Amino acid sequence: MILVFTNTKGGVGKSTLVVHLAVWLFDQGRSVALLETDLLRSCSQWIAEAEPNVTIRTADTPEECLAAAKELTTEHDYVIGDGPGGLDDVSRTLLLLADLAVFPITPSILDLRSVSQATAILRFAQGINAGRPDGRLVLNKMRKRGKTSGELLAAASDLGIGVTKSYVRDLEAYRDAAQQGTVVSRMGARAAQATAEIDALVSELVGIKPRSTAYG
Ligand SMILES: Nc1ncnc2c1ncn2[C@@H]1O[C@H](COP(=O)(O)OP(=O)(O)O)[C@@H](O)[C@H]1O
Ligand SMILES: [Mg+2]
Repeated sequence: MILVFTNTKGGVGKSTLVVHLAVWLFDQGRSVALLETDLLRSCSQWIAEAEPNVTIRTADTPEECLAAAKELTTEHDYVIGDGPGGLDDVSRTLLLLADLAVFPITPSILDLRSVSQATAILRFAQGINAGRPDGRLVLNKMRKRGKTSGELLAAASDLGIGVTKSYVRDLEAYRDAAQQGTVVSRMGARAAQATAEIDALVSELVGIKPRSTAYG
């Protein structure tokens, strides 16, 4: 299965969620590969530190994405693509290869616009590819369900794109995990809330129940 995280805008939590998803699936006994297309390579460095058994490939052109995705899917249960923030050819190629496209989104005014841009590139891929990939918005860096997130949900529903029931709070634990090159589930009790919400989100996205949860 190929899951791709993308957005028209950076800083929304793509890398954070990709690393957490990859390590979560690995911890459930799946074989996992990361396909990194972000030129900063922040995901591959983080995953290499957090879980060296996740395979890492980088790709910078549509041709490289296609070749890497073909090769990785023959050897892994899950290939997780980290898209560059933007609407370029690499993002579009990743979407054409994906089974599921995830668009992390934060509750800011600017992100209301990125919901409609995300939906537009999703529709583009679905139009070429017989309705695939399936697409989901994931609300990240949530403080409390305020006005903006209500507007986001309404915009998403108008545009006909699904929003996951699970959302991710704005928590220090995610920033600490990045700094320490680890994931929240390996940080002990102080990251219990983050661990529980990642469990809920990932099982909702991939349809696997967590084998064991340390907390919550
Ligand atoms: N749920 C969250 N709570 C707190 N900080 C977060 C959360 N998600 C992401 N961040 C922080 O926001 C910044 C951008 O996240 P990142 O995953 O690098 O986004 P992207 O890959 O979309 O550019 C990073 O400093 C990251 O630690
Ligand atoms: Mg990133």
